[in-house]
Order: sequence, then C-alpha cells, then structure tokens
Amino acid sequence: MSAERRRPLIAANWKMNLLKADAAEYCRDLRRGLAAATATGEVDARVVIFPSFPLIPVVARELVDSEVEVGGQDLHPEERGAHTGDVSASQLADAGCTWVLCGHSERRQNHGESDEWVGLKVAAAARHRQLSPLICVGETRAERQEGRTFEVLARQLLAALAGGPGPFALAYEPVWAIGTGETATPEIAQEAHRFLRQRITEELGEVTAAAVPILYGGSVTPDNAASLIAQPDIDGFLVGGASLDPQKFLAIIRCSG
Ligand code: 13P
Repeated sequence: MSAERRRPLIAANWKMNLLKADAAEYCRDLRRGLAAATATGEVDARVVIFPSFPLIPVVARELVDSEVEVGGQDLHPEERGAHTGDVSASQLADAGCTWVLCGHSERRQNHGESDEWVGLKVAAAARHRQLSPLICVGETRAERQEGRTFEVLARQLLAALAGGPGPFALAYEPVWAIGTGETATPEIAQEAHRFLRQRITEELGEVTAAAVPILYGGSVTPDNAASLIAQPDIDGFLVGGASLDPQKFLAIIRCSG
C-alpha cells in the first residue's frame, strides 16, 4: 500500500525484568542518548517503554518532560472490582501511561487469554481515551508449518478489533521468533504486515489502515533492525531482550531513523 511514511514507533517491552535503580539509570541513559540523536536530526521516532507495573512510577518520573512515553504490559477489561493481581485502564492512566499492551503471546500462552478476552481489553483501553492499545498478534511455529499463519492473524486481529477501538497500534510477533534469536526475515515479516494492513483496510477503511503503525517483534537486535524497517509495511519494533540494554535499544532506534 502506498502511504506517506509513518513516523517510526519503537517500543521496549521489559517484561518481568529490572529493579527500580536499574530502571532509573536506564531512563537517564535513554534520555541522554535520545537527546543527542534527536539534536543531530538522526532520529525522529516515537519511543515507548513498557515496564512491569511496580516500575511504572519510576519510569514515568525519570521520563517526565521527555518525548518518551510509558505503557502498561497488560490490563483488566473492567474498571474496578475484585480482581486480585490485575490493573485497570484508569489505574494505568493515573500512573502516567499512555499505552497498554493487549494480547501479548506470553499472556495468551501463560495465562490462557482468549481472542475474545483480548478484544475486551482493547475495548477497555479504547474507552479510556488517554490510553492507546498496542495489540499483539502472531502465529506459533506449528501454525506456520501447517500453513495457517494468515488464518490465525486474521482471527486474532478481528477479535481484538471487535469492540471498535479508537486509535491503536499493532505488533506482529511470531511466537517462534520471540526470545529465540530466530528473527523473521524481512520478507516473511513484510508479507505478514501487508496482510494485516489489508485486513485493517477491509475492516476500518483505507485512511485508518494507512495510519496504523504495525510493529515487528521477535528477536529484534541492532544488527537486523535496519533491514526490517526498510520494508514498506514495517513501521517500528516491539523489542524484548535487546531493549534491556539502553545502548542496544538506542542503536535500534537510530536504525529506524
Ligand atoms: P524478544 O525481542 O526478546 O524476542 O521479545 C519480543 C517480544 O516479545 C516483545 O514483546
């Protein structure tokens, strides 16, 4: 699809890592590195950090008055109530978040989250206008080998959009590439991204589809980021392991221009 270049969106998913002191030091390094890269015009990207819940206040404080945004790694579809261990959209927003991950494969696999449940989370985030959902989809290795990749992506995408989201971003994260060191080739990733954008076009129209950032996630490193972001439908990254080192994360941001 031809579209004006979308501004790159580069996100760090810290998963269940780091302690308060590490997080504060990381944010200071990131601010310094980004300020230098932005001043030279090297970088014009939107950057988001997804820390685990206890670190959100530290990250929000260290990144205050910077362009870097903060997001939660998950949320509960309801606003309040007896849901031990869960957090609501308003709690995330109150803590300074502007993003929330919905449907990460580690939530789908480790916590049995269904496509419908992910859709409820997306709708909850969308109701809370300050929060944008970053919806994660991706096939397992077995699903790819069985030739079911597009079927799985379409099913996950449509269920996530069932509640009629407001502005959202999408992350294509093939499960077989997460934490394995086996990155999707730029061609494989582009094929999935183009498919997802076509499905969004069918559901929500061309204008929306042309504006939605579609990020790639799965063993992204400073070495493979440039060839991936060169693909027309890859608009940024959701980075796990490599995002834990601020210098590696900065290098990935710099590749993205
Ligand atoms: P890795 O970059 O460690 O493969 O993790 C990807 C991911 O799951 C980001 O959400």
